[in-house]
Amino acid sequence: MRLHVADHPLVAHKLAVLRDASTPSVTFRLLVDELVTLLAYEATRDVRVDTVEIVTPVATTTGVKLAQPRPLVVPILRAGLGMLDGMTRLLPSAEVGFLGMQRDEETLEAITYANRLPDDLSGRQCFLLDPMLATGGTLVAAIDYLTARGARDVTCVCLIAAPEGLAVVEKAVGERADVSVVVAAVDERLNEKAYIVPGLGDAGDRLYGVV
Ligand code: URA
Repeated sequence: MRLHVADHPLVAHKLAVLRDASTPSVTFRLLVDELVTLLAYEATRDVRVDTVEIVTPVATTTGVKLAQPRPLVVPILRAGLGMLDGMTRLLPSAEVGFLGMQRDEETLEAITYANRLPDDLSGRQCFLLDPMLATGGTLVAAIDYLTARGARDVTCVCLIAAPEGLAVVEKAVGERADVSVVVAAVDERLNEKAYIVPGLGDAGDRLYGVV
């Protein structure tokens, strides 16, 4: 597993506002969107491209275009949905799949309640979106879903990760797939309720309210 922590003052600034408990949902959603666009730039550094010939008004030259099959972006519902627009802004031709996952607050295990993914993901570059990499259970379950369908190249885009969750993902994925994690920050630890400290609270609730 490769870890990339986006080290940029704009990322740090936006994250600080997100962390602030007094930031209202409307601002929170806007900032998540902006932050993900910055993370998407890092996350797509190895996106596959093909060389193409182009005719400019002056000469013929070569450029690149995104290779086929198109990348697949998969937000993990519900909180990952808040990251979708920021990601597809940079990858407008990507296909979008969905995974509905929820953690059981007692066992902390991931429960899958919905999935809409292509059956065959061989050769596809996949981008999983989940704002909080806490215990790692949800992300490992999501990576399992994708690799069971043949994906071997998975980039996870998260806002904040806990060291405990990163260790779980690292141990679980092993050599099975080429997995990268791109985050805005790695925080201190998890608390007894498996929330990231200092974190930003419940990302889904802060995006969409307590429903
Ligand atoms: N999920 C969240 O939304 N926040 C955390 O801190 C941990 C998991």
